[in-house]
Amino acid sequence: MDKFVIRGGKKLSGSIVISGSKNGTLPLMAAALLTRGVTVLRNTPYLRDIQTLSNVLRVVGARVYGGARTVRIDTRHCNHFEAPYDLVKTMRASFYMLGPLLARYGRVRVSLPGGCAWGPRPVDLHLKGLEALGANVTVAHGYVEATAKRLTGGVFKFDKVSVGATANVVMAATLARGVTRLINTAQEPEITFLVQVLNKMGARIRHTRDGVEIRGVDRLRPVNVSVIPDRIEAGTFIAATTLCGGKITLKNCPSAHLGSTIEAFEKAGAKIQVRKNSLTVEGPAKVRPLEIATAPYPGFPTDLQAQMMALLSVAGGTSIITDTIYPDRFTHVPELNRLGANIRLQGNAAVILGVKALSGAQVMATDLRASAALVIAGLKAGGETHLSRVYHIDRGYEKIEEKFRALGASVKRTMDGPVEPAVPADA
Ligand code: EPZ
Repeated sequence: MDKFVIRGGKKLSGSIVISGSKNGTLPLMAAALLTRGVTVLRNTPYLRDIQTLSNVLRVVGARVYGGARTVRIDTRHCNHFEAPYDLVKTMRASFYMLGPLLARYGRVRVSLPGGCAWGPRPVDLHLKGLEALGANVTVAHGYVEATAKRLTGGVFKFDKVSVGATANVVMAATLARGVTRLINTAQEPEITFLVQVLNKMGARIRHTRDGVEIRGVDRLRPVNVSVIPDRIEAGTFIAATTLCGGKITLKNCPSAHLGSTIEAFEKAGAKIQVRKNSLTVEGPAKVRPLEIATAPYPGFPTDLQAQMMALLSVAGGTSIITDTIYPDRFTHVPELNRLGANIRLQGNAAVILGVKALSGAQVMATDLRASAALVIAGLKAGGETHLSRVYHIDRGYEKIEEKFRALGASVKRTMDGPVEPAVPADA
């Protein structure tokens, strides 16, 4: 099991290239199942989660191969319609198989994803959305089974914004007979990009005032597309520079997708310059405290909540972060406090009393974004921080230690302890 050894206290400088988006790639891999042929995804990040979904696609008969930055998915031999528990439990996004397999083959059996490091992750909106398209859905023995002779267009309002449920139901509706109207759909850039690619595949989806309208077609064609850059990776490096000080440039940065993220870090003291394809961030001498709540896009993303908390732990005053999306997404709090932070929880809010300095300690990663928060806190802390269970971070960040070293930070990956345990799905 790998760990990071981080020596803190250095300012960051230099430039790095933002990788392709994990959350932009995963739904597209599932969307390939809607077609018969070879789908090519370029600029894909080299991540554990991409490998995991590739394995799930192989289980249903797809042939998946490619290099470090490309995924090729050949669906001409798909012959199985079940995504098994032992794979789905390691990554929730495997649940994206549900809509495409149901739409293409009329039947599917996918294991329920179960909970994750920070609590329950329901799928009721996925199931209700598919039922609105005429699917017959049953849940038994830890699996979802869905059948439909042919899905038929319907009207469905999501009672809360869900990225995954929007992706699943939109993908299913592309091959339904007739027109589907979805209301209160997720507006995240990864979903907008999915819609763009589905339309390139021959789908007929248009955005409406309150969601999307989908005119079903008989078949879709495979495409060859380049995946959008990862806005959460970009936000993580903006948080790190605001916390550690110095000045860095992010190349291939999706600034247009950073919504209120840029404003939030500017409020905390960062100086940010946005250019067409790059962004420069300079950290302040002292981080400013702020009160912030996560929200669906274009609000401040829950996937940057932990990183923002690491930053505010040394602000000159008291800050409050409220997570309105995942009220329990605070497994990073006790670990940040081990580094000298002073954070206490009040329901779905964290009250952060800014401290003068953080000090290096042994800490443990618990989930993907909490790990990122502990890395950047370690970069700030005086002395040495040992971060164990970094397999969590490898799920969603491509070579993060190499990118931080390129910015002048001291982060080394070493071997630590026995082989890693099974990883609960958290992303
Ligand atoms: C996606 O997860 C992302 N994962 C998550 O990123 C991200 O945190 C999340 O969206 C929110 O932005 C991927 O894109 C692979 P949701 P998803 O359905 O789709 C509730 C990362 O770090 N809900 O938008 O699972 C749910 O409990 C990961 O990269 C229901 O109630 O999230 C939550 O409160 C972590 N019923 C809210 O909706 C449902 O059927 C938003 O969840 C589905 C969701």
